[in-house]
Amino acid sequence: MSETPPIRAHVTGWGRYVPSHVLTNTDLEKMVDTNDEWIVSRTGIRERRVAAANETTASMAAVASLRAIRAAGISPDEIDLILLATLTPDYWMPSTAALVKEAIGNTRAAAMDVAAACSGFVYGFATAQAWITSGLAKHVLVIGAELLTRFLDYTDRSTCILFGDGAGAAVLSASTEPGGAMGIELTTEPQGAYMIWLPAGGAKSPPSSETIARGEHYIRMEGKETYRFATRTLASTALESVRKSGLEPDDISLFIPHQANIRIIDAVAKGLNLPMDRMFTNVDRYGNTSAASVPIAMAEAVNEGRVKVGDRITIVAFGAGFTSGAVTIQWTADPARGADADTAIRAEDVHVRLPVDWDSVDPIPQALAELMARPGAVNPPLDDVVPGEPEPAPFLPAADRPALTPAAS
Ligand code: UT7
Repeated sequence: MSETPPIRAHVTGWGRYVPSHVLTNTDLEKMVDTNDEWIVSRTGIRERRVAAANETTASMAAVASLRAIRAAGISPDEIDLILLATLTPDYWMPSTAALVKEAIGNTRAAAMDVAAACSGFVYGFATAQAWITSGLAKHVLVIGAELLTRFLDYTDRSTCILFGDGAGAAVLSASTEPGGAMGIELTTEPQGAYMIWLPAGGAKSPPSSETIARGEHYIRMEGKETYRFATRTLASTALESVRKSGLEPDDISLFIPHQANIRIIDAVAKGLNLPMDRMFTNVDRYGNTSAASVPIAMAEAVNEGRVKVGDRITIVAFGAGFTSGAVTIQWTADPARGADADTAIRAEDVHVRLPVDWDSVDPIPQALAELMARPGAVNPPLDDVVPGEPEPAPFLPAADRPALTPAAS
């Protein structure tokens, strides 16, 4: 009697959406004491996108999702589970995944949000893989979507220059064909809990005029400590995933890392002893879009012809928590399937239902309002990013990682 081959999770669809408004480093120079040279040399970022007043995390996620579903060649109602990774949900409740479910026209799926900060898409991807290989779901939609510009303090130059808005999505589908998602590595180091955090708004510190006066509704970050964690962890997390797949780094044709900082990505390449051309980067154009960064990068890598059928790729991320995660994938979908998604699915045709009898305040941060009001986006030419001198922590295997120093309270 022949054995039934195991069910595998294959990426069958991918898509991304970024808002049209571009915020350049030169724009930021008008708001805080910074300059293009500092931002480019320390981060590799040249510009980022800012969502318009009528856009939300759910609306961006819905556009990226419909593009991914189109590439997968299925109907939205064939999705069994929707996992939406975000740290900037539209509301505390309902989940943003529930809003997306309705907006894409799905009537059947279970829908929930994933809270693992910048690692959220990879955590969601690994969860989708488990649902599919266990037989619980046939098609899972995994989304990373963020509207970070509404949670930034535009007087804090150490954070406001880093982040941007956008969404990316992938469809994972069950198949007994060889290939698809392989080794998963997920870690969480709670010593880093207060290195990147948003102090107020939750049960520990509910929103009040006092928390707002203290600016506790904005993202805070210990940049150096986060940098050290990232450079120590990203390469070792990626390596664990690659080895769990029975492979070595040199077998991976493209790593798709979280786009936080070009120096961090450079450190990953060095940690894995690989050239930079094995790392996909678009941090220069979008900055750090947290949970959206890996799926945006994956969609662009495939659409730009950097991923071919049979290639092995590794997605890897780190973020607040501190979390990190990686999954290695043997690519099986025809990359051409994503080619026309941006023109076929237009943002203006996708709608998230609004609440009845309730008016939101103007969501655009005051510091951005003037820049957002001017006609047309500034699109400077993109030169190659010249990274600053990286100062990564030495690469260490997972078992040898030192404990983190918690931030002073
Ligand atoms: O998804 C995870 C999210 N977080 C991250 O990935 C962040 C990880 N950390 C980093 O990427 C880096 O730590 C930063 C890019 C945030 C900062 O780079 P750095 O090389 O660690 O700079 P620093 O914080 O040591 O600051 C160096 C100097 C300081 O001035 P002094 O004290 O030497 O006079 C800062 O005040 O640069 C100053 N500085 C700036 N100058 C111009 C800090 N921010 C800015 C700025 N423009 N925007």
